[in-house]
Amino acid sequence: MFFKDAPLVKSGAFYMMQWNFQDLQTQAQSEAQAIDSPQALESFRLKYLGKKGLIAAVFASLPGAQPADKAAIGKGANELRTLAQRLMAEKSSGPLSNSASGERQDISLPGTGESLGHTHILTRTMREIIAVFEQMGFVTVETPEIETEFHNFTGLNIPVDHPSRDAFDTFYLDAEDPSAKGRRLLLRSHTSPGQVRIMKAHKPPMAVIVPGRVYRPDAVDASHSFMFHQVEGLLVDESAQFSQLKGLLTEFCRRFFGQGVVMRFRPHFFPFTEPSAEVDINAEILGIQRKKWLEILGCGMVNPKVFEAVGYPKGKYKGFAFGMGVERMAMLKYGINDIRLFYENDVRFLKQF
Ligand code: DAH
Repeated sequence: MFFKDAPLVKSGAFYMMQWNFQDLQTQAQSEAQAIDSPQALESFRLKYLGKKGLIAAVFASLPGAQPADKAAIGKGANELRTLAQRLMAEKSSGPLSNSASGERQDISLPGTGESLGHTHILTRTMREIIAVFEQMGFVTVETPEIETEFHNFTGLNIPVDHPSRDAFDTFYLDAEDPSAKGRRLLLRSHTSPGQVRIMKAHKPPMAVIVPGRVYRPDAVDASHSFMFHQVEGLLVDESAQFSQLKGLLTEFCRRFFGQGVVMRFRPHFFPFTEPSAEVDINAEILGIQRKKWLEILGCGMVNPKVFEAVGYPKGKYKGFAFGMGVERMAMLKYGINDIRLFYENDVRFLKQF
């Protein structure tokens, strides 16, 4: 079986190898160069690589070939096949071209570009909270995540043996507190130690917020995490009043959740504030069905014992403080029902916000 274009080389009385692979390669190259349509590409494929194509013909001629030529014929056929395949691949990946099946590429289809990322919903919520307080004149200060027992507990009127320390007694480091022999450093269990640090370093008046990560010995479930975020607030001057605290937090909730929000102040206990309260917001109004009232923050008038611990003169200053959980605020505002979603980094969740 001969392919019609196959160059036959016969010379004189001597039988020479039937196939001139050198010429076949040159021919394939120039034919490939001329391909300008899907149809031409397909004809090229049939001619060289098809079942009845040239390369198949070369292999079919092997049984009748001179034994001495067989190896060279096999090698030549394989090289020609590789070349024809490469030429086709080059042609079909070219700009105007077209797959071997003859399908056109639709260059009007949208590209597969990289999609842009955006701020994580927690960062965004944190910034929203901070923005509202900054509009009202508060200054943002960051304080360390690794704290001393003094800042995290004692300075906040939480003595070493106080029961409220249990829920907070958390991740201790091997490192010793350089300022207190025998006491170890720990990951802060709330942002309130920021109050102590700032008051030790500055004189009133002051209006600050302290955002950041906190750590608790809590088992992880839909509403608990061993790490979460808080925003602490502190205002100290010589005349701060509880009514101002109430007005401030009411305005904050309106700006953060919307004007229609309904909230209540409920008496509570915190060692570092006296009197203390918790703020709940009405969940029905936000369109959340679970419970009528949901706690969003703790607050109160700074306990004089805290002023004493930071070295302020007795009776000179008054202040109020508050602390809120950022995850809780984001869950209520954006209708998220599982705290773990914030940390799993599943793009399907993240890209919704
Ligand atoms: N530190 C408290 C907690 O993590 C929250 C808190 C309550 C902060 C009352 C305050 C405050 O500043 O006045 O549960």
